[in-house]
Amino acid sequence: MSKSIVLTGITTTGTPHLGNYAGAIRPAINASKDEQVRPFYFLADYHALIKCSEPARVKQSSLEIAATWLALGLDTENAVFYRQSDVPEILELTWMLTCVTAKGLMNRAHAYKAAVAENEETEGNDPDKGITMGLFSYPVLMAADILMFNANKVPVGRDQIQHIEMARDIASRFNHIYGEHFVLPEAVLDDNAATLLGLDGRKMSKSYNNTIPLFEPEKKLRKLINKIKTNSLEPGEPKDPEGCTLFGIYQAFANPYELNAIRARYAEGIAWGEMKQVLFEKINDEIAPARERYEALLQAPRHIEEQLQLGAEKARAISRPFIQQLREAVGIAPIAGS
Ligand code: TRP
Repeated sequence: MSKSIVLTGITTTGTPHLGNYAGAIRPAINASKDEQVRPFYFLADYHALIKCSEPARVKQSSLEIAATWLALGLDTENAVFYRQSDVPEILELTWMLTCVTAKGLMNRAHAYKAAVAENEETEGNDPDKGITMGLFSYPVLMAADILMFNANKVPVGRDQIQHIEMARDIASRFNHIYGEHFVLPEAVLDDNAATLLGLDGRKMSKSYNNTIPLFEPEKKLRKLINKIKTNSLEPGEPKDPEGCTLFGIYQAFANPYELNAIRARYAEGIAWGEMKQVLFEKINDEIAPARERYEALLQAPRHIEEQLQLGAEKARAISRPFIQQLREAVGIAPIAGS
């Protein structure tokens, strides 16, 4: 039986945080060890340009994200780990797909619609203010990422499901016109993947500026955990674990046995300061070895680059012949053999 292809991309605009780790990176790395699947994981650096025009940040983020995945033990033998921009066939495919994508389909994209809605509220007369063609046609680039490797499954967050549906629509349209070239991908939502709350109690997210970076040095990690907002219940007063930010994060790192023990301590009225100490130790125990590897990797960017180049070679062994096939299919081909 051929392996199922699981593909996902990480936009290179930020530093990975605990929420990314528990929600996406850790499950993806575990999946990379599964013999039944062939994972394709990539740095979506062309996607970064849609929301970030700071070159230094895009570059630094690529380095940090690659180092993170390698430090956490991604199995690069089984997984194909590459940088989107090292596979130029993806951009070529983006154009082919753009030409079969209905503009009306893109008009319905949540991200675009939200931007228009915001403009209509604040600007009144120009609904497209500040909206680039990059943002507008971003689902087509994402479809190309997925279809280039005929991915069967795409693990994503809820906000991305619509994009996978659009990729299916676009693939069907292309197949209908030019013949069956693409597999229709499916979105997978991991129910076990945790969603963590951030320092202020809202969902941990770059856009809320409430994150705890994954590989913060130990001292800083402790400091940030101490900053997590709690209620004003005193030590000795019973506390409710449900909805508690500290407990929620703890849950993403602890086994069921440890979790029960902590529940009991909430009922007894554990002091917030103490719970923060418990949480710090739990997180730190899990990530300290990877943090050491991460720091070493940041000192060895050449090694990271080599890994990415190896990944790009594996990816292009697929994308090069496939784009030739697609060129033929659409009629982009030499007029005569030489
Ligand atoms: N757009 C995705 C995000 O913001 C990242 C991404 C880019 C992606 N290309 C992809 C995810 C292809 C899955 C498949 O999270």
